[in-house]
Amino acid sequence: MIDRFNKLAQFLIGQNKKKLIFNNNFFTDDEKKFFLINNSIPDFFIEDSETKKITDIQDKFYNEIKFPNYDDLDDFSSLIDKANKSIFAKFLDEQIKFGSKILEVGCGTGQLSNFLSRYNRKLFGIDLSESSLAMAENFRIKSDIDNVYFMKMNLFNLLFNDNFFDYIISIGCLHHTQDPKKAFFSIEKKLKEGGYIVLGLYHKYGRIYTKIRKMIFSVFGEKVFFLDKYLRNKNISYQKRLTWYKDQYKSPHEISYTIKEVLEWFEEKNLKITKILPIENLDINSKLFDDYSKNCNNLGMKEIMLALNVSHASEGGLFTIIAKK
Ligand SMILES: C[S@@+](CC[C@H](N)C(=O)[O-])C[C@H]1O[C@@H](n2cnc3c(N)ncnc32)[C@H](O)[C@@H]1O
Repeated sequence: MIDRFNKLAQFLIGQNKKKLIFNNNFFTDDEKKFFLINNSIPDFFIEDSETKKITDIQDKFYNEIKFPNYDDLDDFSSLIDKANKSIFAKFLDEQIKFGSKILEVGCGTGQLSNFLSRYNRKLFGIDLSESSLAMAENFRIKSDIDNVYFMKMNLFNLLFNDNFFDYIISIGCLHHTQDPKKAFFSIEKKLKEGGYIVLGLYHKYGRIYTKIRKMIFSVFGEKVFFLDKYLRNKNISYQKRLTWYKDQYKSPHEISYTIKEVLEWFEEKNLKITKILPIENLDINSKLFDDYSKNCNNLGMKEIMLALNVSHASEGGLFTIIAKK
């Protein structure tokens, strides 16, 4: 562990931009600022006063629900099998370059970071939830993965140099913050020129069904759980269904967007879009990172069609934009 933490310190900077030093059982950037380690998870959390209110609420909420659940994953090969069932995760693994440095923002229980750990990549998974990070770390240790670092960090106060990462991935996280646009700018700063960002957010129309089901569940309770594809699937463990239920229907704060709204953030930062999912379909020849999207025509209409896309809605109504800096 000591060697690991010394190595980790080399990738980090303190708030005053000075190098972090690992000192037996804590990290420090000067004599005054200390970052402790709780159950093998370094705690680099630094408050951001503007977004504190919701950050504190999410910290508490996601400490209680650990998402996504590991319960059917015994080892690394079962994680690979599971992840490969998602064509998106499989393509990420196949198409992210060998040896790249990757930041996963809001990694939750770290399944994606652990999954992407092959091919000599270096992954840094950050989240607020200590209990989720503990699950991520347990799986990492059990699977003998050396090149993934999990830590508690606030995405509004990232202790990495600007222009540092080759890839930044954030799926299902920024829409749970007080100011998702500010969150996007905060993480984008850490991306290298030529690096790629992968951002997954709730879609305004795709989310409508979830909102309707939420209202129905609040009146009729478990009797009508069959309305949700995951909740009615008895092949999924009760614990896992409960986690899905809480994440989808009990979240204390979420904001949803149209793709058009979020594309404006990318434009403001001059990022070049390479893929928009599920506006474009993935097929065997799809390239996530170098197939520039010529497909933004009629975006408004395609977005409305998303509201009618039942399979998209049943997955929680996420859309993903991938872009190059
Ligand atoms: C729905 S979970 C997504 C987990 C994972 N990315 C996935 O797709 O399964 C959202 C995660 O974002 C984290 N989160 C929310 N606000 C955050 C913040 N300010 N800084 C870091 N993580 C945050 C939560 O703790 C939670 O684990």
